[in-house]
Amino acid sequence: MKLNTDKARSVSEALNTRITVRQFLDKPVPDDVLQRILTTSLRSPSGGNLQPWKLHVMTGKTLQAFKDKAAKVTLSGKMEEPTYPAYPSPLWEPQRSWRYKLGEDMYAKLGIPRDNKMGRLVWLAQNAKFFDAPVGIIITGHKKLDMPQHLDVGIYLQSLMLLAREAGLHTAPQGWWRNWSSVCHEYLDIPQDEEVLVGCSLGYGDPDAAVNQLYADRAPLDAFAKFYD
Ligand SMILES: Cc1cc2nc3c(=O)[nH]c(=O)nc-3n(C[C@H](O)[C@H](O)[C@H](O)COP(=O)(O)O)c2cc1C
Repeated sequence: MKLNTDKARSVSEALNTRITVRQFLDKPVPDDVLQRILTTSLRSPSGGNLQPWKLHVMTGKTLQAFKDKAAKVTLSGKMEEPTYPAYPSPLWEPQRSWRYKLGEDMYAKLGIPRDNKMGRLVWLAQNAKFFDAPVGIIITGHKKLDMPQHLDVGIYLQSLMLLAREAGLHTAPQGWWRNWSSVCHEYLDIPQDEEVLVGCSLGYGDPDAAVNQLYADRAPLDAFAKFYD
């Protein structure tokens, strides 16, 4: 499906046209647009109005230096202990199959077969470059935050992503950055009592990139909802 780069005019349009974009155009986001999105995103609700998110917004030279370092450490094969594991292990059904299918569908779009382990690793390292986005955001929070505040951060992230669509922009939410705390702490002003929760690429999606044609499956409503009358 072709990437929709129009400005979304309703919440439904924003939701239906938001996908995780994994290739961005080399086109800066005007500062006033960025400021507007970020300012409005702060209207996200949070339990007790704790507003537990901290935003580290990178552009320009800082972003370039950060990406260079992150790509270097990623490709070195060195691994860090993530702040939180991405998924429960082992995953159970049907989530296990859904996750597997997402990977297969994505690599099919990219034309990287399963046995090309190096090709897949090199592609994964695109995460470290914020998928070439002109804006890279790292969201941190206090280490004492617990599940209710992590929910708040998730809600915040969705607000940010939908506001991006309203401005004709796209995003990639990235748990990836939980694997690379050391780079985040080296380049950003993150107090020691805070940790990396999630990252987000932001910019103009490349409508010609094959990977951006992936419109990930969703199970139907009856897989999730029970109605009680
Ligand atoms: C909190 C969160 C973290 C994610 N982390 C990554 C990531 O590190 N790298 C990546 O390529 N996609 C990441 N994704 C994107 C998911 O794979 C994607 O949302 C899911 O497959 C559904 O596809 P869609 O966003 O295109 O609808 C993340 C999504 C969320 C919500």
